[in-house]
Amino acid sequence: MIPGVTIQVPAKINVQLSVGGPEPAGFHELATVFLTVGLYDEVTVTPADTLRITVSGPDSDLVPTDGSNLAARATTALAERLGVRPSVAVHIAKGIPVAGGMAGGSADAAAALLGCARLWEADLALPELLGIGADLGSDVPFCLTGGAALGLGRGERLTALPLGGPLHWVVAVAAGGLSTPAVYRECDRLRGAAGIPDPLPFPPVLKALAAGDAPALARALDEYASAPPGEGHANDLQPAALSLRPKLHDTLRVGRTLGALTGFVSGSGPTCVFLVPDARSAALVAEGLSASGTCTSATAATSSGEGPLVRYAPKPA
Ligand code: C5P
Repeated sequence: MIPGVTIQVPAKINVQLSVGGPEPAGFHELATVFLTVGLYDEVTVTPADTLRITVSGPDSDLVPTDGSNLAARATTALAERLGVRPSVAVHIAKGIPVAGGMAGGSADAAAALLGCARLWEADLALPELLGIGADLGSDVPFCLTGGAALGLGRGERLTALPLGGPLHWVVAVAAGGLSTPAVYRECDRLRGAAGIPDPLPFPPVLKALAAGDAPALARALDEYASAPPGEGHANDLQPAALSLRPKLHDTLRVGRTLGALTGFVSGSGPTCVFLVPDARSAALVAEGLSASGTCTSATAATSSGEGPLVRYAPKPA
């Protein structure tokens, strides 16, 4: 019997997030370019009498530990599929900002699925896990695979994308989260419902990613947004996040002033990410942003195409 399984699962950013008009089911059609970045949650599952969730790390008090926790829902959904009891303790050590637009909850759900599948020695192929993940949330399938991918539909229809080399980022965490549904509602309010074009991937973004070329990626984002150099982004939710949290303008301005190639809101926010040329600039921009008082913390993180990493937990002492 395996004593436990630990999954290290990375955060995601949306390098592009094109949002279509609202659908009757309350969702939006997306074309999004997902990319993992090196900030991680560690999720450990161990056998227990009943399903129990514990959480540690920054803002862990904001994460529910009842049945509404996405990792709890993932565990229950997998147990139902396998016809077993969800008798596990799930511990989540947070390193991904909570409610920050970096898929922290979805990453935990993906990790719980992978961990429980291993613990219960389930004979499940990846497509089956992806299906269970898609029912839990739009970002869960990508969190199961990681790397770089184009997401269509609600973001759950994935095609892996090539990533030509590591990209360097600075992740600036804001105080307090933003609700994803509230940001989508604000996006609809700002844009109106009519005349929204179908969401499509932007080829220069895909080309720059495939080349691992940070300056080309920044230029592609400027082109997408018809913005001055360094001010581009391809996130249709950014105006909505800025409308709900105007202080993020200051964070974006400071990061750009410090020499980032570009900066934008991650997903539904409020976390902002800055693309920088190399690891040395990442350290400098992170230091400057941390000192600026326009965010609660700023950390350098690299995208190197990582996915979740499964390892066995040591036997408890
Ligand atoms: O799928 P997920 O749980 O991440 O979605 C959270 C909320 O974000 C949805 O209830 C919906 O309001 C909004 N959403 C959306 N269109 C998408 C994905 C999410 O409107 N494609």
